[in-house]
Amino acid sequence: MKKRVLSGIQPTGSPHIGNYLGALKNWAKIQYDYDSIYCIVDLHAITIYQDPAELRGKILELAGMLLALGIDPKHSSLVVQSSVPEHAELAWMLTCVTPIGWLERMTQYKAKTEEQESISDGLLQYPVLMAADILLYQAHVVPVGDDQTQHLELARDIAQRFNSLYGETFTMPETRLPTHGARIMGLDDPDKKMSKSTTGEGHAISLLDPPDRIRKKLMRATTDSNPAVDLDTMGPGVSNLLSIYQAFTEASDDSIRNDFTGLRYGDLKKRVAEAVVAALEPMQQRYREITADSGYVAKVLAEGAERVTPAARDTVQKVKRAMGLYTP
Ligand code: TYM
Repeated sequence: MKKRVLSGIQPTGSPHIGNYLGALKNWAKIQYDYDSIYCIVDLHAITIYQDPAELRGKILELAGMLLALGIDPKHSSLVVQSSVPEHAELAWMLTCVTPIGWLERMTQYKAKTEEQESISDGLLQYPVLMAADILLYQAHVVPVGDDQTQHLELARDIAQRFNSLYGETFTMPETRLPTHGARIMGLDDPDKKMSKSTTGEGHAISLLDPPDRIRKKLMRATTDSNPAVDLDTMGPGVSNLLSIYQAFTEASDDSIRNDFTGLRYGDLKKRVAEAVVAALEPMQQRYREITADSGYVAKVLAEGAERVTPAARDTVQKVKRAMGLYTP
């Protein structure tokens, strides 16, 4: 039997090249070797207020985009988290074995509490729901970007604690980071992670940005005071541009050194822009084709939820029995 992969993405903001290089590219790549489940995590999105009409639109838009970038419904189940209620059900049971201190230590929680005036309880519970997504399907492998590694350690801690309290129930999930592009930084500020929620025209390249916009954003990207590429003294901005190039093209370290050393920053940016445009243009074309058929995306999502439900129910039953909850 194939091992299982699970991962998720929030339907908020505009998905960008950081999401693609950190996670989505890997999703498409490994779906043929694993039994793959990919979730659009709308319950995670509402931990911060979302405009309802906008959220509804973004869920379908994101599903269309995931299909366009190569998630193949014949090989993967594409699922909207809230359409399988067992995610929330398991999350509650896991909440009850998770010490609050573990959650208060999460760096993403701490960062978000600094940005928000009023903090929902959901924001604190966020990583427990994420653990539930993973453990619900007994996933072996979780392909994510670097910013999710702490959440995955927590998911393993929760699984371990549950297993030791109630007996072997959950598979221990393994984090899978990409070789290149695990942490893409903002183009305007290479000390900050590229993020869907950061606004500002020069920050992120959205997967649906037209070629001219991509070029413009890259030409304006922050570099450093060197005149040309020097791999040994480059600052974080130049290093980020090279990471983007390498992650898109899968060029070797040697060829990066040979091709880019001494290149002036204007030319470096042009090279990076052409690599990004070449990768995104076919995806954008497929996105237009997929979304032209209004019923197709909804059909894929309905099939995805139906396909994964038996596994989800099975785990919840197992957990209920293990904990002594009533199972008629
Ligand atoms: P989200 O929606 O923030 O991001 C989706 C994926 O993109 C990766 N990513 C990045 N990778 C490289 N560079 C960046 N700048 C960058 N920004 C984002 C993220 O690491 C992620 O893999 N909590 C998750 C969603 C989630 C999930 C799960 C993931 C919910 N349940 C279960 C895995 C398994 C999140 O907010 O991802």
